[in-house]
Amino acid sequence: MKVIAFNGSARKDGNTAILLNYVLSELQNEGIETELFQLAGKEIRGCMACRKCFQNKDMRCVVNTDVLNECVEKMSEADGILLGSPTYFSDVTTEMKALIDRSGYVARANGHTFKHKVGAAVVAVRRAGSIHAFDTINHFFLVNQLIVPGSSYWNIGIGRKKGEVEKDEEGIQTMKTLGQNMAWLLKKTHA
Ligand SMILES: Cc1cc2nc3c(=O)[nH]c(=O)nc-3n(C[C@H](O)[C@H](O)[C@H](O)COP(=O)(O)O)c2cc1C
Repeated sequence: MKVIAFNGSARKDGNTAILLNYVLSELQNEGIETELFQLAGKEIRGCMACRKCFQNKDMRCVVNTDVLNECVEKMSEADGILLGSPTYFSDVTTEMKALIDRSGYVARANGHTFKHKVGAAVVAVRRAGSIHAFDTINHFFLVNQLIVPGSSYWNIGIGRKKGEVEKDEEGIQTMKTLGQNMAWLLKKTHA
């Protein structure tokens, strides 16, 4: 069993990565293989709305000049998908939105291929807008027929500077509980 986590932050190894790693370490404790894929420094553009994915139905986006198809392959192979983003102007980052739009279209063009995978959102925030970003990611999971586990709070961690999120004890506990719940759900549904 495997969970792939994407960090949509422009800042590598920042607060979103820290939060994702707390979730991943709980999954590892339950014997689940994990991978963290950070979008920082990688090219990823938005959807061109060409709908070639609906014609080709080959689980690929025709734009092959960036990292998207590698991400889609990783999502397809995994049993669980974690999407993490910092809050940028009350929403996910541009990079995360590009991943959502293009991988979501490819999956839908190919018969909802992410159906029944387990999906969870993780959001870092300085002050406000995290719930909107959280909702954006959950819209992706729900319309693509993934199953979404909960935690003891919405999956938000508070901090601005790199590493500041470590001070948010409740946020860290929320990530640990999310990891445990995700592992529980994966074992029930993908054993
Ligand atoms: C362009 C930009 C926009 C941001 N917008 C918000 C915002 O709307 N609300 C907020 O609370 N924090 C906002 N922040 C702060 C980040 O969400 C916060 O620093 C977060 O911890 C960064 O996570 P990272 O270290 O994973 O990049 C913004 C940061 C940047 C660079």
